[in-house]
Amino acid sequence: MKAWRVHQNAEPREAMRLDEIPVPEPGPGQVRLRTRAAAVNFPDALLCRGEYQVRPELPFIPGVELCGEVDALGEGVTGLEPGARVISPAAPPNGAFAEYVVVPAAGVLPAPEALDDAEAAALHIGYQTGWFGLHRRAALRPGETLLVHAAAGGVGSAAVQLGKAAGATVIGVVGGPDKAKAAREMGADIVVDRHSEDFVAVVKEATAGRGANVVYDPVGGDAYTRSTKCIAFEGRIVVVGFAGGTVPAPALSHALVKNYGILGLHWGLYNSYDPVAVRQAHDELTLLAAAGTIKPLVSERVPMSGAAQAVQRVADGTTIGRLVVLPA
Ligand SMILES: NC(=O)c1ccc[n+]([C@@H]2O[C@H](COP(=O)([O-])OP(=O)(O)OC[C@H]3O[C@@H](n4cnc5c(N)ncnc54)[C@H](OP(=O)(O)O)[C@@H]3O)[C@@H](O)[C@H]2O)c1
Repeated sequence: MKAWRVHQNAEPREAMRLDEIPVPEPGPGQVRLRTRAAAVNFPDALLCRGEYQVRPELPFIPGVELCGEVDALGEGVTGLEPGARVISPAAPPNGAFAEYVVVPAAGVLPAPEALDDAEAAALHIGYQTGWFGLHRRAALRPGETLLVHAAAGGVGSAAVQLGKAAGATVIGVVGGPDKAKAAREMGADIVVDRHSEDFVAVVKEATAGRGANVVYDPVGGDAYTRSTKCIAFEGRIVVVGFAGGTVPAPALSHALVKNYGILGLHWGLYNSYDPVAVRQAHDELTLLAAAGTIKPLVSERVPMSGAAQAVQRVADGTTIGRLVVLPA
């Protein structure tokens, strides 16, 4: 089969090579999926660079989520029918940028019928992260103001839609006019172009000085630090990621004086600590997709040959929503 593999830690365009390798066999408790679509995520870029929280042995296949078709079951796997259309996380070395992917059966979920293959591939990580960040960690309430950084990105655009679905007023921060348009189309009530506007002033004006109740921050650096200047009394900042490249050092005295919470979020851990909640969130997301309330923003569907370039563009921060690789 064809599979993209990382042979050296470097920028994605240099690190990834399209190889011909044997189709993998599922072990006990595993399932082999035939890939229909694999979404590109920022962690793919970090994996290529060797900067992710896990550093798989080289060579490895990147790609952390997919929509596929059940192709073969490993020993002891029940409840999955060959041919079923499903979504799943994938973990290098058995990543999703390949024609066939072996994944743990426990993480496989039915693909929502309302979404096509590319949209279904882009649902899992972005919307699960948004669901757990906004509901479980931040307990977002209707009528609250939600500030979302990188609001036209993969996880950011999902948080915008989920924030609106939860009845919040959503302020999205983006880099550039095309991203501003995308964030507006995803439902953001107010959009701030960080290249030309100060989001702190916009949040203060929009909330009559009270500040945002919840901040959803996949960027870190100044996005985090400046957010502490416009967080409300009893506000919650959800630390989602550091796409900007800088891990901020929060001033805890400031959190004390202003009475706000700083909440870490590592969605992947819920798969081990509370898999039932992951399944429940998937059921809620499937209902929201069926109602047309959420729909992942897939800006480009790229052929298998374009995967390395797609990961590079996500690494460069220039993409809108998700790029999705279609192997067939
Ligand atoms: N905590 C969790 O469980 C969890 C789960 C999934 C993802 N994440 C994290 O969430 C973050 C976003 O992931 P994603 O896949 O959705 O990516 P993405 O949002 O599609 O891309 C990152 C965005 O960050 C912004 N950005 C600001 N400075 C940047 C820089 N120096 N380089 C690149 N981008 C920059 C850009 O948007 P603007 O130009 O519009 O600002 C860019 O589009 C990543 O850090 C990822 O690791 C965390």
